Amino acid sequence: MSEWVVELQQPLVLIVDDEFLQRLPMREALEQSGCRVTEAEDGVQAWESLQQKPPPDLIISDVVMSRMDGFMLCETIRRQEEFRYLPIVLATSLDDVSSIEHAYRVGATDFITKPINWGLLGHRVRYILRTARTAQALADRELDLLRTRMEIIRRLGQAAEYRDNETGRHIQRMSHYSALIGRAYGLDLHDQELLLHAAPMHDVGKIGIPDSILLKPGKLTEGEFTIMKTHTLLGGQLLDQEPSLLLRTAHTIALTHHERWDGSGYPYGLAQEAIPVMGRICSLADVFDALTSKRPYKQPWSVEQAMGEISRCSGTVFDPNLVQIFHRILPEILAVRDTFPDMDCSSSDLG
Ligand SMILES: [Fe+2]
Ligand SMILES: [Fe+2]
Repeated sequence: MSEWVVELQQPLVLIVDDEFLQRLPMREALEQSGCRVTEAEDGVQAWESLQQKPPPDLIISDVVMSRMDGFMLCETIRRQEEFRYLPIVLATSLDDVSSIEHAYRVGATDFITKPINWGLLGHRVRYILRTARTAQALADRELDLLRTRMEIIRRLGQAAEYRDNETGRHIQRMSHYSALIGRAYGLDLHDQELLLHAAPMHDVGKIGIPDSILLKPGKLTEGEFTIMKTHTLLGGQLLDQEPSLLLRTAHTIALTHHERWDGSGYPYGLAQEAIPVMGRICSLADVFDALTSKRPYKQPWSVEQAMGEISRCSGTVFDPNLVQIFHRILPEILAVRDTFPDMDCSSSDLG
């Protein structure tokens, strides 16, 4: 057992059985092994008792009961998020294979066979509790790691955005646009979510671009633009060799969101399908938002103007298939735009 899974000293066990003569020896056996015990006569009473605090650490329930049987109780409990990891043991007959199968299907943690060996019950309960607590601790840790990772990613994207567009909602809009395009393109839900969470990092490499270039109000010289273009490679370096799929996707997007369909983009001059679809999608979402947003050197373009420009660039800058999709889902895109309006606008770069 890992050191972060602390064994319960006096676990509270809820016995659910409509027969007093079953509950009695079970209570005695459990108390002898150091458990505290509470009882319910059927599923309904057990469910009611769960609403009171504190909930039990484990439930042992008979299967056949008049009001709400053990299967139904199990199903009902599992529907409640807070009881997702509450161990439930169903007591069933020894040779009843279909009951055992059913028990696992409705979310039982384990089963014990009747007649119950009272001498072994305490050991069995301790084992089930330990396993369940380990599983819960692992799941909690995984969730915590995932949340931390997402938060770091979000803040990293924001850090780049602060340098470039202090209070704009560019990142939020373009990442939601990207996810919508991805969905209409046919990406599955998992890839749509990857896109949504990875797109915010498309310009993370701007962290490495000097202020004199990044914040320059006027047009960049050729030399300055050459340096500006390196934000793609810098982003790629920052997110390189990441084991997580999310950061690998972010890496791809950071590197390829300025590639163009006709091969005239940067940093690699990739063309058409050689540009990863995540990069092609983000490129379109990024430019549409840049065009329709106010920047220090320009007023926002109207949606019609921006769509005209995107159509004009179909097959040169943008994947023509994605441009078609974009036209089709424009109402959804505009709904996202309304959800994340700019509070204030100040920026220096298209995309
Ligand atoms: Fe960029
Ligand atoms: Fe951008």
